[in-house]
Amino acid sequence: MSHTSVLLREAVDGLNVRPGGVYFDGTLGLGGHSLEILKRGGTLIAADRDAGAIEASRERLSAYAERVSFVHANFGQISEILQKLGVDRADGVLCDFGVSSPQLDTAERGFSYTRSAPLDMRMNAEEPLTARDVVNGWDEEELRRILYDYGEERYARQIASAIVKRRAASAIETTDELAETVRSAMPGRALREKQHPAKRTFQAVRIAVNDELGEIERLLAAVPGVLSDGGRVALISFHSLEDRAVKTAFRDWSDGCVCPKELPKCVCGFVPVMKTVTKKPVVPGEAEISENPRARSAKLRIAERLPRHTARKGE
Ligand SMILES: C[S@@+](CC[C@H](N)C(=O)[O-])C[C@H]1O[C@@H](n2cnc3c(N)ncnc32)[C@H](O)[C@@H]1O
Repeated sequence: MSHTSVLLREAVDGLNVRPGGVYFDGTLGLGGHSLEILKRGGTLIAADRDAGAIEASRERLSAYAERVSFVHANFGQISEILQKLGVDRADGVLCDFGVSSPQLDTAERGFSYTRSAPLDMRMNAEEPLTARDVVNGWDEEELRRILYDYGEERYARQIASAIVKRRAASAIETTDELAETVRSAMPGRALREKQHPAKRTFQAVRIAVNDELGEIERLLAAVPGVLSDGGRVALISFHSLEDRAVKTAFRDWSDGCVCPKELPKCVCGFVPVMKTVTKKPVVPGEAEISENPRARSAKLRIAERLPRHTARKGE
């Protein structure tokens, strides 16, 4: 199993790792970013919702075992994780959203439209909601919404309708059956596109099953509170909705005041809590993309916690 880390140097450089500082990697995966933080002397709290990722990384990071705490949890629970470990604040937070190569490549996990398997797609096998539940249980309008919003699927309406018709006869149980249902709903010209016709549908269902955007919102709500003064957050997104959530949070953190423009003076009392370090997102260069095509849509944004004496509310 391997996973090529995306924007590795750029993301870890952006954290300004200093020996003895405490860093939270919320998407441990196969430990690529974590290893780099450890090599630079950081103390690491490494979380992943996938128990298999923790298992694999424990091995890979074993040379630094005394400086790592592994946590099987969602990064949306960052405040609770730090509290449980008795850590007041972190000096850096890094997340590299989305799925890892081992998750996509392990057929039985049901993430892949090219491998036959039961419809699962859970990153954490202990969580109850599976892709089978979403595909067979959610109503047509909800399916259309996720296909359109999370998959940016042009044929969302046709695919949602085909899913509902097919499951009325018998439940859609496997990745093959779902891929075939998607194919049956698409016009001929869409089937001739370079991209696999089911790619966007599988992405949408995966995002829904794992509540990926909800997780990012919970993380963003917690970041200014858990970072130490001068601490940094580095976030790598792969989907436009992920990047939009990050961009909006960065803007709100650095704007401070939320009063309507018509008011002559501020009454909300909010002041900036973070400053944005990357005015534009950092994206991979051609060399990285040709070595690792998965990096193509990656965007890295970095922000820094402002000292608390300048902040009053909104912490
Ligand atoms: C793109 S991979 C990370 C790869 C890692 N940075 C590396 O270099 O090996 C994403 C990982 O984040 C995990 N993950 C995704 N969403 C999560 C969440 N909300 N909480 C915790 N882990 C999550 C996935 O299980 C997966 O292992």
